Amino acid sequence: MVKMVYAVAAAVIITALIVGPAVWYVTRPPPEDVVEIYHWWTSGGEKAAIDALVSVFEDKYPGVFVKQTPVAGGAGYVMKALMKSLVLAGEAPDAFQMHAGYEGKPYFEAEYLEPITDLWVAEGWKDVIPDVVEAMVKFDGEYYSVPVNIHRVNVVWYNKDVLQDHAIDPATLTTWDAFFTACDKLVAEGHTHPIALGDIGKWADTHVLEQIIAGEGIAFYEKWVNGKVTSATDTTLVHALNTFKTYLGYVNPDHAALTWDQATARVITGEAAFNVMGDWANGEFIVPAVGKVYGTDYGTFPTPGTAGMYGLCIDCFQHPAGVAHPANSLNWIRVVGSKEGQDAFNPKKGSIPARTDADITKYGPYQKAAINDFRNATYMYPSVAHGSGAPETFTAELDDIMSAFVTDKDVSAAATALTAATTAASADYTTDWSLD
Ligand code: GAL
Repeated sequence: MVKMVYAVAAAVIITALIVGPAVWYVTRPPPEDVVEIYHWWTSGGEKAAIDALVSVFEDKYPGVFVKQTPVAGGAGYVMKALMKSLVLAGEAPDAFQMHAGYEGKPYFEAEYLEPITDLWVAEGWKDVIPDVVEAMVKFDGEYYSVPVNIHRVNVVWYNKDVLQDHAIDPATLTTWDAFFTACDKLVAEGHTHPIALGDIGKWADTHVLEQIIAGEGIAFYEKWVNGKVTSATDTTLVHALNTFKTYLGYVNPDHAALTWDQATARVITGEAAFNVMGDWANGEFIVPAVGKVYGTDYGTFPTPGTAGMYGLCIDCFQHPAGVAHPANSLNWIRVVGSKEGQDAFNPKKGSIPARTDADITKYGPYQKAAINDFRNATYMYPSVAHGSGAPETFTAELDDIMSAFVTDKDVSAAATALTAATTAASADYTTDWSLD
């Protein structure tokens, strides 16, 4: 009898061991219940933001697993090339991070993207996305991507204690001359490298030059993005490069070994006073492990000469043609463009939402101020460093030119190389930006 009980118990256990996995195998989410996305959000603030967006998706579509492939390298300097090769090989993921504007154009022209105009209409995005942003995600009258955010690029981040300790009033730093005078004071008082720069991947150099060019005035910026700055002796271009040269006199000598967020971290700790960076930097200050408070620990002002201007860097996702999980791809895009998705992502990212109907109470003080600045901006301009403002044939050269400049500080060589790159790409300047 006892033997019999053991035998039955053993049979039950064995059956359970066989049936359990079999039931799991049959009822497990089918392999198509995956959405594979690529992005380059790997810093503390960036990761917190994309994880929040993924949570919104997974709550809405339980059973669909978001397979994230994060490719480290700020501004996508590694991922952009990788994505080209994947897409060319017919292996586009279900969606990938891409900037608005020119960056999507080569994909559109090669017919690697499917229009999502129906989705734009069904989701009512046209009513809630500002025209200036909307215009940057359309090609030939059709929509090809949806923005998740609006980043401001023309921002100086500063450590409040450092400026207070050296009696520097940030409100006075509205011109590069005033800014450099403040840097001289910091240097004289022992802060040898007051400006933090982290230019691994080179793009952070381009980022700074771009803001200096914007500081030369919107008319010059417009001329630049329309491919009309073609003379190596252009006095405004030469002036901008000279400003950049002066700027470089105040940066940390180990800049080539630092990522953008390591440079921002130096402002967080007070090792440096200033960092020129887009407002993804805000995400680094506010990430819980750091926990700094805007207005108490750190502050911002527009890069000199750009008060009232809002330089735009806009992250989007799209629906590539022929993806493995088309329905999930579209649902991902739906969440990216949704109020809920944007209000989960942006408070952590540092940016403002692309939608105008966001729940402002969810945002911190920097972002509340930025939303206000965006609404009241006199001029907006598309970032070139972040893919929107100029054709890829030009931007592909730009980071190398700026990186060489940061090393040799040769204004004339840089002006020659920049204008030659513009001329070589002249046929590709197809957008006629009207910024003023
Ligand atoms: C920008 C991107 C931002 C931010 C930054 C640094 O190009 O649009 O979302 O991630 O790079 O990686």
